Order: sequence, then structure tokens, then C-alpha cells
Amino acid sequence: MFQSFSRKLSASSILQHPRNNPITFFSTTPSAIVAPSLLACDLSKMAEEAKQIVNAGADQLHIDVMDGHFVPNLTWGPPVLKCLRTHTTAFLDCHVMVTNPEDYVEDMADAGADSFVFHIESTKDPMNMIQLIRNAKRKMQVGIAINPETSVETIFPYADMCDILLVMTVKPGFGGQSFMHEMLPKVAVLREKFPDKHIQVDGGVGLDSIEAAANAGANMVVGGSSIFGADDKAGVIASMRETLNVAAAARL
Ligand code: DX5
Ligand code: ZN
Repeated sequence: MFQSFSRKLSASSILQHPRNNPITFFSTTPSAIVAPSLLACDLSKMAEEAKQIVNAGADQLHIDVMDGHFVPNLTWGPPVLKCLRTHTTAFLDCHVMVTNPEDYVEDMADAGADSFVFHIESTKDPMNMIQLIRNAKRKMQVGIAINPETSVETIFPYADMCDILLVMTVKPGFGGQSFMHEMLPKVAVLREKFPDKHIQVDGGVGLDSIEAAANAGANMVVGGSSIFGADDKAGVIASMRETLNVAAAARL
């Protein structure tokens, strides 16, 4: 559950370690995690951008794998991830938006993924996906994601077996879209039913929407354009984390 905290040794990550974080030490509430999405960085120098954003305080790096079938956009897959892995020890949170995700579990594991978040809409057999990820040769966290048009109830039968429950707050495929506030009741239901899980929101999250997401119960947020488009990236990341922590403390 706290695998993400063991990968970095910077001063900020030591403070975020569950042992040193009053919220995680005294409860099962998962810690605040801010994951910049590399989709929004300058892709001609991805490794350098990854290092800089980790130095700016990112807890994880969010990697959007898109196949042009499940979503109407193409990005990258295991070969690019494998190269990136040689440049960073950061937790690589992999959001896999592909048809037939079963076919990519071992390749993503080999390439160095730290989580494999699949969409429930992309597979006929979510339980099999969970087992494939759990049994992969590299240990990965298991995540299950729902698109905006998918009801939250569809993931209830699988949630206990997952580490990460991802509520999409935009239609997946592209960065820079507007945050869909109407998705927040899904987040609230998941936090209520699954208090110890990572509840992630992805899409359109920025300083104008982070408070609503945090108050609904998200502890893990992805930020693409709001972080990479900011002059003060460290300030945006710190502010997002602070908002998540304040909301989590209010739930205790
Ligand atoms: C959208 C991706 C997101 C995207 C977020 O399909 O899953 O991770 O990169 O970018 P912003 O924060 O700009 O909406
Ligand atoms: Zn994503």
C-alpha cells in the first residue's frame, strides 16, 4: 500500500513517509499523492522533464499509455517506459488506456511499471486482469479506472482487490480538458465504501478544482497541464498536496 514512499530518498519524501506523517501514522487513510502527467511535458526531453518534476516535489510520475483504439489518441508503451526507467527511480504510475490490456501486463512489468491501472471498460474479465497484474514478475500496484459515463457501482465487486480506484474527471485521451465536477459524487461514494484505498482523480485537476476533489475524498491526483504549464511547478505541487492533506485531516 505504501510502496510509493520507498522509492525516493529526498527530504520531502522522508517527511511524506507514513512513519513521519501524522495522518498515515495514526490511521489507515492513504497519504496525499500528487502525480504530474508526463503527457503534458516537453516530450522531446522526457527524461530531463521527469527528473525536474521529481525535484519539484512530485510524489509519482503518471504515464498515460494510449493505443488509438480504446481512446482516440496514441502515446507510447513499454519501450518508452523502459528507457524512462533507466533515468529515474520515481514511482511510475501507469494508466493503461488500451484495448486488450491483458496483452500488456508482463511487458509493462518488464519495462518497470510500478502500477498498472486498467479501465474496466477495456476488459471482459476484470478479475482476470487483477490476477494477471498481481502475478506479474515485477510487483505492481493494481488500479481500476472508470470513464465518465461508467457508473461507480461497476467497480464495487473488484475494489477490495485493488490498490487504486481511478475516477476519470475528463473523457480519456487528451490533456488540457475541463474538470468534470459532476464526477465527484463517485469519489465520495468510493471514499465512504473503501476508506483505505487510494482514490485517484485524473483529468483537468488544477488549483481551481483540487479542493473539490480533495473534499470529495481523493487522496491521489494527476495533474498535466496545470503543473507542467505553471511557472512555479513546485508551488503548484505543494499547494495540491497541502489541500489533499487538509481534507484528509478533516475526515479523521
Ligand atoms: C487523459 C489522461 C490524463 C491527462 C491529464 O486521458 O489520462 O492523465 O494527462 O492531463 P490534464 O491534467 O491536462 O487534464
Ligand atoms: Zn491519465
